[in-house]
Amino acid sequence: MQGGRQCFAHKVYRYRLCARVIQCMHAMMARMTRPFAQSCENNQAPIAKVLQTAFAHSRHVLEIGSGTGQHGVYFAPRLPHVVWQTSELPEHHAGIAAWHAHLPAPNLRTPLHFDMRTSAWPQTAEGVFDAVFTSNTLHIVGWPLVQRLFALAGAHVPQGGVLVVYGPFNYGGTFTSASNQAFDAWLRARDAASGIRDFETVVQLAQQHGWSLQHDHPMPANNRSLVFQKT
Ligand SMILES: C[S@@+](CC[C@H](N)C(=O)[O-])C[C@H]1O[C@@H](n2cnc3c(N)ncnc32)[C@H](O)[C@@H]1O
Repeated sequence: MQGGRQCFAHKVYRYRLCARVIQCMHAMMARMTRPFAQSCENNQAPIAKVLQTAFAHSRHVLEIGSGTGQHGVYFAPRLPHVVWQTSELPEHHAGIAAWHAHLPAPNLRTPLHFDMRTSAWPQTAEGVFDAVFTSNTLHIVGWPLVQRLFALAGAHVPQGGVLVVYGPFNYGGTFTSASNQAFDAWLRARDAASGIRDFETVVQLAQQHGWSLQHDHPMPANNRSLVFQKT
């Protein structure tokens, strides 16, 4: 009798142990399937501070080039008054969704397919986008796509809307650091159409599409946050 009870207890113990191991493996696999960029981990808090002021009166934010999805899950709970709409090329959607499943927020939306090359300005049932955020994209895509991005945003975001662009920029045709210069050389070696953009040229382009520069915030690691308003 005693032996039977011990045997049963041992079986329960083994069952619980197996269940715990399976649970841990699931958690590990989920973590492994979430893409991770250390740069997002480093820049999300300083960017959030800029956005909390820039988007203080915004309602509906379109994030262009959401990347890993880390930014969206970090910013959405810190901007609870906005709906944060992520967007990306389709190959990144699963990774972004994995972050949303891990850190859900009621105001965070699953990614739209938005390709700067071909997509029309996205529309959702939640109304027009009165704010746009894009991080580390202007130096990745070719200049014609940068032009298209400002043109589309200028044509669709209503007056008073806000556009925040984060990333590295050159000033007066000069790199702001040796690391930016090395980064630019690396970018151009892998894609001659990419490269760090000139602040003055971007501001001029923005103006052509109705965006006036409100702030140019210095950010850690030789980056900037440019805040534009639609006039
Ligand atoms: C350097 S990553 C930046 C990602 C993220 N915003 C961040 O700061 O970590 C550049 C992103 O631009 C996206 N991208 C490249 N070409 C694009 C295009 N034609 N349309 C939309 N997104 C594009 C890439 O998929 C990539 O996620």
